[in-house]
Amino acid sequence: MKGIILAGGKGTRLYPNTIAVSKQLLPIYDKPLIYYPLSVLLLAGIREVLVISTPEDTPNYERLLGDGSRLGIHIEYKVQDTPRGLADAFILGADFIGSDSVCLVLGDNVFYGKDFTKMLKSAMQEAEGSGAAIFGFPVKNPKEFGVVEFDSKLNVISIEEKPSEPKSNYAVPGLYFYNNEVVEIAKNVKPSARGEIEITSINNHYLREGKLKVTLLPRGISWLDTGTPKGMQKAGNFVKTVQEMQGFYISCIEEIAWRRGFITTEQLKKLGKELKMTDYGRYILSVAEEVR
Ligand code: DAU
Repeated sequence: MKGIILAGGKGTRLYPNTIAVSKQLLPIYDKPLIYYPLSVLLLAGIREVLVISTPEDTPNYERLLGDGSRLGIHIEYKVQDTPRGLADAFILGADFIGSDSVCLVLGDNVFYGKDFTKMLKSAMQEAEGSGAAIFGFPVKNPKEFGVVEFDSKLNVISIEEKPSEPKSNYAVPGLYFYNNEVVEIAKNVKPSARGEIEITSINNHYLREGKLKVTLLPRGISWLDTGTPKGMQKAGNFVKTVQEMQGFYISCIEEIAWRRGFITTEQLKKLGKELKMTDYGRYILSVAEEVR
């Protein structure tokens, strides 16, 4: 399975923070926002990644993440000249995806919690088997998201994008798993009333064909909003608190690459030494002392 991180957009809800800097490069406490969705792909065991961003910002992502070899993975980049909508990821990424299945994670989505890796693995299997796997997560402000409606037996009835009258309080987080059909489906998506080719249209296509699996994220898993300055601050506080209390770092991509066996202990130590002037770097060095 291939992985795509969509890290473009204008970030207008964070202005003036994002006038000169891409939103997904801003820090959530001690690391850039894009580390969090990248860590999701690494946890899923995905080693071929495409980062999509704007013409101005793509060079900065290349500076930050390079070709991925430091993490034992392969990262490619693709420019999106204008934010046409989330479904554009599969059109821009068609060559990269080839004949494979694909996971799309939005560059501003942060996930953390117990058994998350297990959930990722089963979503991958669902998508490779039956077609598509997405998640549902209860929120207070469903109007701001894609919203999934269930019947009493938890069968999905509908998915609506930013409905004015939401039929449930379950939002669809920005993490989607699809089989290869998604490339053709995306090419045929018509722009919505707001002029975007919506991921929700893709999900509805799979739903109509009976190929969409929706799993509710359990209480032990957090999905954090980073859409506003307040959301970013809260997410940063969450990361700081968990890291200080548990001693484990959230979304330390170097650690995950090592635990997945993508890099050796020697390589991990080298990455830690390069950053040893920070707590983040010292954490990497302490992980490298563990017996894997
Ligand atoms: O976060 C989950 C929500 O993400 C879902 O519940 C919605 O169904 C989905 O449409 C999306 O809603 P948002 O309003 O959050 O999408 P937004 O336009 O903010 O874009 C999400 C990320 O993708 C953001 O980091 C910018 C980036 N992006 C967006 C568009 C439309 C791109 O890179 N290119 C684009 O064309």
